[in-house]
Amino acid sequence: MDGTIHTQPAATPVIHALRNIGYKAQTAIADIVDNSIDAHSTAIDLQFEYGNGDGFILIKDNGSGMDEDELQIAMTIGSKDPRDERDKNELGRFGMGLKTASFSLGKRVSVISKKNGIISERCWDLDLVSKHNEWYLYKKVPDSILHDLPDIEGESGTIVYIDKLDRFSKAGLSSPLKKKSYFTKIKRIRDYLELVYHLLLNDNLTITINNNQLNGWDPFLLNMSETIQEKILEGEKQAFRVNGKRVIVRPYVLPHPSNYNSTEFTQAGGLKGWREHQGFYIYRENRLVTFGDWLGLFKKESIYDLVRIRVDFLNASDDDWKIDIKKSSISIPEEAKENLESIGRYYRQLSQDIMLYRTKRTSGSRIKRTIGTLNTWELDNDNNHGKYILNRLHPILNEILSSIDDETKKQLNLYLNLIELGSPMNLFEMEHLIQREEESLDLKLKNLLVLISEELLKKNPDMPLDELVESLMLFPQFESIGRITLEKIILKDVIND
Ligand SMILES: Nc1ncnc2c1ncn2[C@@H]1O[C@H](COP(=O)(O)OP(=O)(O)OP(=O)(O)O)[C@@H](O)[C@H]1O
Ligand SMILES: [Mg+2]
Repeated sequence: MDGTIHTQPAATPVIHALRNIGYKAQTAIADIVDNSIDAHSTAIDLQFEYGNGDGFILIKDNGSGMDEDELQIAMTIGSKDPRDERDKNELGRFGMGLKTASFSLGKRVSVISKKNGIISERCWDLDLVSKHNEWYLYKKVPDSILHDLPDIEGESGTIVYIDKLDRFSKAGLSSPLKKKSYFTKIKRIRDYLELVYHLLLNDNLTITINNNQLNGWDPFLLNMSETIQEKILEGEKQAFRVNGKRVIVRPYVLPHPSNYNSTEFTQAGGLKGWREHQGFYIYRENRLVTFGDWLGLFKKESIYDLVRIRVDFLNASDDDWKIDIKKSSISIPEEAKENLESIGRYYRQLSQDIMLYRTKRTSGSRIKRTIGTLNTWELDNDNNHGKYILNRLHPILNEILSSIDDETKKQLNLYLNLIELGSPMNLFEMEHLIQREEESLDLKLKNLLVLISEELLKKNPDMPLDELVESLMLFPQFESIGRITLEKIILKDVIND
């Protein structure tokens, strides 16, 4: 084009810069596994071979595979335009992952893919690229590697084989990774994959590492024992839109630590421990991108350990959430901040209440477990008619009561009494007790009657007796009390005639 100079990037510096975009071993492996999932694989097998510190990593899938042209495009740096719309559920975005993730682990990546029974192959070797400072891609995979490869059974599938693992296991360097550290690294990868794919690992997808099948780790503990599950507080699912695209939020407050046995407690703590796992869990197309992070909205403190909040967005919103090439970080869109902040604040408070409420210290240093649940209603044990009462020890109620003045407290209590006595269940029960006489009246009901009469009279001191009785009879709680009894009580206990 006139007035321009065609300036091609130099291969060696670019490719070496791409090695340094900040993958960790586990995020790199996940980026390659994402491709297998996008290719609709149902079985993905990972093999990590230590060798003598100069082994290989192999990822094999039974997905749709690629023909020669598709594989050539796949191996190109920038194989797709990141601005293109992607299929629903697709995890890819930048047209880079296969290359950048592989190069962050080792210097050579060979891909063998089978589609309609036909095998195609390509191989990048960074030593060759560096030597010539040119983008030379091998059409064939070296025989020595082919020798190591398993068959791709069935009509289609792909194998990604990475070796010259100078980054992953310091192969070829003066001190290669020791075997023990190598296996620790693999364990970390396993834990990571069990977390980020926990929603996708099901009957339709299995992943294995060195022939051991991965089990999804659910941060919300929904696959833990029934006794734990029963105590999980599942907040209301909430949806809002960012730039017109939907975001779904599902908050969870996990049971107090005293509910787990020690194995369960460690397991529930996850790969990084309880404290690191509090916060938002951001999922993109059901694949976890970031986890255990308050995203700059709040600080981590152990009192909030019980809160884990699931947030789901679609790949169509990648731009709004600024997903990175490694699929391991996002930043919250301005439009979502307020919502996430208020949801976070509410559930953090709940976590705090549960933690404090259940761990009040007695005079000794022993931690005392006090009774109480998060149920709002409880069966009144002192009442043999099976009446329901509000849980006056509920942490939220306690919090409210401690922050208001005495007069408001009195009014709130009065209102709560009304709710209790007017609950459909209690009214139903009362129908069986027709027309009570004063002596047989429940003391609580009588007290309530007195309190309400006083309130009504406070607002209107000149109200005549019969009008007051009429007003009281409008309360469903007092329906079962006869007019005469009502009058008697008012005269005796309210007006003190
Ligand atoms: N295992 C595989 N099976 C079938 N096709 C694959 C496989 N791996 C990669 N591909 C093809 O190669 C393309 C390039 O993969 P690459 O990971 O580099 O980019 P991407 O997945 O499109 O985007 P991203 O950079 O976000 O990962 C994919 O879009 C896909 O078409
Ligand atoms: Mg990809």
